[in-house]
Amino acid sequence: MYSLARRLLFCLDPETGHRLALRILAAAPKVPGALSLLSRMAGAPHPTLPIQVMGIRFPNPLGLAAGFDKQGAAVDGFSALGFGFLELGTVTPLPQPGNPRPRLFRVSSHDALINRMGFNSVGLSAFLRNLRRTQRRPIIGINIGKNAVTPIESAVDDYLAGLTAIYDECDYIAINISSPNTRDLRMLHSDSHLDRLLTALKERKRELADRQHRQVAMVLKISPDLDDGSLKSVTSKLLRYRLDGVVVSNTTTERPGLRELAISREAGGLSGAPLRATSTEMVRRLYAELQGKIPIIGVGGIDSAESAWEKLQAGADLIQIYTGLIYHGPHLVRVILSGIEQRIHALGCTDLQRTLHRARADELPMS
Ligand SMILES: Cc1cc2nc3c(=O)[nH]c(=O)nc-3n(C[C@H](O)[C@H](O)[C@H](O)COP(=O)(O)O)c2cc1C
Repeated sequence: MYSLARRLLFCLDPETGHRLALRILAAAPKVPGALSLLSRMAGAPHPTLPIQVMGIRFPNPLGLAAGFDKQGAAVDGFSALGFGFLELGTVTPLPQPGNPRPRLFRVSSHDALINRMGFNSVGLSAFLRNLRRTQRRPIIGINIGKNAVTPIESAVDDYLAGLTAIYDECDYIAINISSPNTRDLRMLHSDSHLDRLLTALKERKRELADRQHRQVAMVLKISPDLDDGSLKSVTSKLLRYRLDGVVVSNTTTERPGLRELAISREAGGLSGAPLRATSTEMVRRLYAELQGKIPIIGVGGIDSAESAWEKLQAGADLIQIYTGLIYHGPHLVRVILSGIEQRIHALGCTDLQRTLHRARADELPMS
């Protein structure tokens, strides 16, 4: 069924197609029977897949990656598709249009996208209004960023505004320092910037937790384009500031295997199949450094049960998809979850949590 929908959506320019799909999902709660139709597509819940990570019980490990629902407008629709959690945003403090169009490009020959959206955002107030209209209450992460006009020296203020506004509305907060499409943003990976940012955010988070008697997890979303030295220094900050998790990774400015294509010269971040190996390798390197002390959310090029399992094998506790959903459709959620379940059973295990635990204690070969 999705092959027909995809043919229609792919007749439109990528951003129009994307907006149409989002509108359909956002309208689903208002159309009688639509949410239950989507839930039927997702199939039955998977009893082996609930997993406790960052103090949160996820119904399954597969999440929607940030950037698909930047406005928090289609939570009910996405939740009906069977995701274990949704990462919404990136949301910036004030509304902003993002970069001029065209800013999203399909690389269909390689199941990939290049985007330079530049944090098009409705801003915190409208985002929260949207979120409060939702009927369902899935596990929600909110991904926060800075406005384009805010100089990098004042970026901390934007993140503090984001954290304060959303603290009470989500299960975890993702600090996005890794979009390649906001000038200087990736500078926040550097030692001095990251120290300032994380000191301020941890302090504010402590105040909010005291006031609201509720701990909300905080994770950092990082770039796949870090060299060994930078990755080591980011790792040391994750440990020093005791972040609850790390999302690996955002899109890449590299063009692995695409150099011969004219479209690869479009500026922006590459996602989808060509990112898969880089992001998996980064999960592996980070897991080796962190030794399970901080959970990893693996994202980049997941488009099948095999590529999802690969991220879990490399050290991820949770996984996310974005581009795979565009190329393979909502059915992919069910395909991935059923495939993970089958692999757990094939290992003679009964649940994901224990499978990962045993594999990481070298009691079980996951491959
Ligand atoms: C069009 C588009 C917009 C995105 N916007 C955001 C964003 O606002 N914030 C963010 O943290 N990541 C954003 N991402 C990155 C994704 O969350 C994800 O990290 C990346 O696409 C790799 O996963 P994938 O290969 O499954 O797409 C965006 C990706 C795409 C394709």
